[in-house]
Amino acid sequence: MASVSTSNISPSTLDVPEPAGIQRWATEQGILILAHSYQDGFIQECAHFVGDSLELARCAAEEEAEAICFAGVHFMAETAKLLNPKARVFVPDLEAGCSLATSCKGADLAAYQEHLKQKLGQRPVTVAYINCTAEVKALCDIICTSGNAREVVGSIPEDRPILFVPDMHLGGWLNEVTGREMILWNGACQVHELFSVDTLRDLQAQHSGSITISHPECPKPVRDASDHVLGTAGMLRLVKQHEDKTFLVGTEGNMIYRFEQEAPQNRYIPAPGASCACNLCPFMALNTPEKLWMSLQERGPEVMVPDELFESARASLMRMLAL
Ligand code: 13P
Ligand code: SF4
Repeated sequence: MASVSTSNISPSTLDVPEPAGIQRWATEQGILILAHSYQDGFIQECAHFVGDSLELARCAAEEEAEAICFAGVHFMAETAKLLNPKARVFVPDLEAGCSLATSCKGADLAAYQEHLKQKLGQRPVTVAYINCTAEVKALCDIICTSGNAREVVGSIPEDRPILFVPDMHLGGWLNEVTGREMILWNGACQVHELFSVDTLRDLQAQHSGSITISHPECPKPVRDASDHVLGTAGMLRLVKQHEDKTFLVGTEGNMIYRFEQEAPQNRYIPAPGASCACNLCPFMALNTPEKLWMSLQERGPEVMVPDELFESARASLMRMLAL
């Protein structure tokens, strides 16, 4: 393992230890490393816990860590801060955002909620996918993730209109599986939106007997061509139940690393995007091993949530966790 020094650290010159060494050092320092399954294999290996958005939120809420290094994107670290206010939460790269979170600004949402209230004669219940800013969470009634979205929508009385933000594809899928007619915000994940149903059909023809799994953030034609539509934790549970199968995978490419670690008895082929088969999230990719290591040394950059948003945003998350 490389020597650990906090002086003269910069991402380009940093001598980065092996993942086990990074994890050991973080443990000694009382830092909990959380990583989303879309982080690359190196970062997944460094983490004390790797999971989907729901598992990571639960982990942040339940662990008593005083410092959390969140290897994921900004809204995930904000969520960890909201659920564990006493912890110092920091990230490898503050610029790691999300196209879904960017698509829904608080002021626009507030104006749309007001417009719908006038139009419908009542304020709709606003359900927000967790991929949104704390500002948006503060304006919503309840949060959901890909892992619990059906239950969250099912918990809302049938006679109440629902506004679902910000992912129109996840919202469209929820309308299909729950029979609700939620009003949908017009946002999309820039990674999942690029999966192509035509090239997926070609791949399926080349691999007869394969099982296609896609994320509900994919557009409807891709979902319809899939055998299972699941969030990342649901995908992992499914592949673990199979033996010697070929899976065509319609989600971010690093998920395959996780499958290969935890269910190596199968084969995994990334479903192709419109022009390439990389399917990597450029925001998740901003978190490099060097930046992770530097952020651990510096316990920063820290992620903060403005005081005026804190309680309302936390309340929306707590309603989800209480279900
Ligand atoms: P899940 O891992 O919760 O399915 O979320 C997918 C995603 O796109 C996270 O940004
Ligand atoms: Fe956002 Fe999509 Fe990247 Fe997830 S994969 S962080 S939804 S852009």
